[in-house]
Amino acid sequence: MTYIKEAWYPVVWADRIGREPTRHVVLEEPIVLYRLQDGTIAALQDACPHRLAPLSLGKVKGDTIECGYHGMTFDCSGKCVLIPGQEIIPARAAVRAYPLQVRYGLVWLYMGNPKNADPDRIFHIAQYDDPAWHAVQGDTLRIECNYLSLCDNLLDPAHVTFVHATTLGTPAGASVPVNNDYRDDEICVWRWIRNAPPIGVFARFGGLTGMVDRWHYYNFTAPCYFRIDMGSCPTGSIPDMERRSEGTQMYTCHVLTPVDGRTVLQHWFHVRNFRTDETEMDADLNASLDMAFREDKVILERIQLEEERAPDAKRIVLGIDAAPMKMRRMVDRLIEAEQPAARQAAAS
Ligand code: FES
Ligand SMILES: [Fe+2]
Repeated sequence: MTYIKEAWYPVVWADRIGREPTRHVVLEEPIVLYRLQDGTIAALQDACPHRLAPLSLGKVKGDTIECGYHGMTFDCSGKCVLIPGQEIIPARAAVRAYPLQVRYGLVWLYMGNPKNADPDRIFHIAQYDDPAWHAVQGDTLRIECNYLSLCDNLLDPAHVTFVHATTLGTPAGASVPVNNDYRDDEICVWRWIRNAPPIGVFARFGGLTGMVDRWHYYNFTAPCYFRIDMGSCPTGSIPDMERRSEGTQMYTCHVLTPVDGRTVLQHWFHVRNFRTDETEMDADLNASLDMAFREDKVILERIQLEEERAPDAKRIVLGIDAAPMKMRRMVDRLIEAEQPAARQAAAS
């Protein structure tokens, strides 16, 4: 399987990385992470160039990592600094080091040419650092499905009525059509459901009891970043759709690690504009969101198994599939655009 390589991918919550080396797989590449003495994190290819033993089975010594098989030792730039019993270190004795950033509490790695690793291209949500909003770290869900199936799901407001009937949806939304906005590098699918009961999560945590106008905006940027804006206001109280922040609003952000062709990590967190100083509520709200995302996991994993059982099965396309299809074309186009440089790098 091919992936967009020239991009930043989230890997793991930074607070889970300590001095002990840990193994992670991103785009089918094994990577070892460990914390250096100054508190920053190193990311190296997790395969020793001698016999390919995973360095994550070795030991961190100072800022270096020692292979657990014959003791070749690498610094945090991936250069070999010691071969036990041998004085000459061959120039090719090195492992790849990955450009790394920590943002939103997550470790991000650049998987393409390190020269292109511009941190400004990491997923962005302006409200995260805005004092009028409250940002809460979420969790990581491991889903045994292709990452593009999860991307389809995260661009699909129509499933909410059925999959999340008690958490993020209500029956009122079933017949409301969705709208699509396309830009070169961004897809947004949205709909407003007018004069309807609030969804479970907003009734419970947002204090909305009467009838509301509510919205969902699902926003995608490559390679697999999602910002889902959901909110509500008392019916008729926000006539201008661009003034949503005057209502009760929450962004759930989902950034994905494609592990391989049938496994994806869904890292998520939320940013909200209501009850911003009530941190004691964070865990309960996150638990409701987690429950909802697990409802997707059940369906996506069953779809993956069915796709593997019957790879040639025919499917029909519905109107609600327009944005997911556009997303897949965008991903294909970006992969295609990377190929000449990738071929050149492989040849050199
Ligand atoms: S496999 Fe790592 S030193 Fe031999
Ligand atoms: Fe969902």
